[in-house]
Amino acid sequence: MSAAIEPRKPTTGEPLVVAHDLARTFDVSPPWLNRVLERKPRVLLHAVDGVSFSIERGKTLALVGESGCGKSTVARLLVGLYAPTRGGLQFDGQDAHAAFKTPEGRKLRRRIQMIFQDPYASLNPRWIVEDIIGEPLREHGILSGKAELRERVGELLKSVGLSPLDMSKYPHQFSGGQRQRISIARALATQPEFLVCDEPTSALDVSVQAQVLNIMKDLQREQGLTYLFISHNLAVVRHVADQVGVMYLGRLVEVADKQKLFADPQHPYTRMLLDAIPQMKHTGRRRTAVQGEVPNPLNPPTGCTFHPRCPHANARCSAERPQLLSLKGVQVACHAVEEGRI
Ligand SMILES: Nc1ncnc2c1ncn2[C@@H]1O[C@H](COP(=O)(O)OP(=O)(O)OP(=O)(O)O)[C@@H](O)[C@H]1O
Ligand code: SF4
Ligand SMILES: [Mg+2]
Repeated sequence: MSAAIEPRKPTTGEPLVVAHDLARTFDVSPPWLNRVLERKPRVLLHAVDGVSFSIERGKTLALVGESGCGKSTVARLLVGLYAPTRGGLQFDGQDAHAAFKTPEGRKLRRRIQMIFQDPYASLNPRWIVEDIIGEPLREHGILSGKAELRERVGELLKSVGLSPLDMSKYPHQFSGGQRQRISIARALATQPEFLVCDEPTSALDVSVQAQVLNIMKDLQREQGLTYLFISHNLAVVRHVADQVGVMYLGRLVEVADKQKLFADPQHPYTRMLLDAIPQMKHTGRRRTAVQGEVPNPLNPPTGCTFHPRCPHANARCSAERPQLLSLKGVQVACHAVEEGRI
């Protein structure tokens, strides 16, 4: 192994990743002139509105929720592609967003990598695999000699079940699953500790999804990787997660250990998501079909934003926003759970 590749830190028991009250607002106002002429106010969209969680080293937190609930925005906040509007991120004890702005930030970016949904869009079609995977090694000054670089690219390809001979090919010469393996190899090039995976298998056929997920699990075990894993597919989440965070309109409504969440979901929204999976083993509760639409995030409902869709909503629910509280061994934001009504 090259001298530039450092050994990983031992496990300390402290969470590697701690997000505290993370929020991100987007200004989606009409253009300035229209605003002035039509007397329209500025419009802010709260894509992520106060999300807190922690992930222990070597573990996987999965984020689930319907389209538009803010999962990708959380991912982008975690890797520094977005700055938070409020709150922050501690990575291995340091303020990540402060560090991203300093020269030290480069070192941190090496340790946090992201895998995207569409492996074709994230790989440069005009580059051969050797250059695609080698780029982060060169960019971070980890390896520069051609022979050394090729050897490491070969190792990385092998680690994701591809052949070192594949390094002279172009992305279009691979299947979707193989392309996603190339993205994973590229993400692993800098020996990161934390991988943020945004729907990494959603674009793949079901049979290929399982292969890629198994590779990711093997790599996690071998290299002690920590994952934030985003998926709207609860079957996938069940396969990979240690903990699950359920998001609704920019907020976490339930965070629980995977077994607990699937066996005994607390929040009415979590129950609704689980009830929508036909093959999910049933716990004896009465099923509630997924009802209603996700509200417009520009005009979210008052109080608990889930109240227009919730079978347990009452007057308190439409007036008062529930906080994420530790109840019944999980974290849940629901008045009915707090009051023991459900
Ligand atoms: N750059 C942006 N500018 C304006 N609005 C944005 C931007 N990025 C996201 N949004 C809005 O923020 C909200 C959350 O979007 P996000 O992409 O994080 O959701 P998501 O949970 O990843 O959805 P999906 O499952 O469809 O990928 C949505 O209402 C989206 O329209
Ligand atoms: S707070 Fe009220 S509306 Fe919201 S999920 Fe709980 S019961 Fe339903
Ligand atoms: Mg997304």
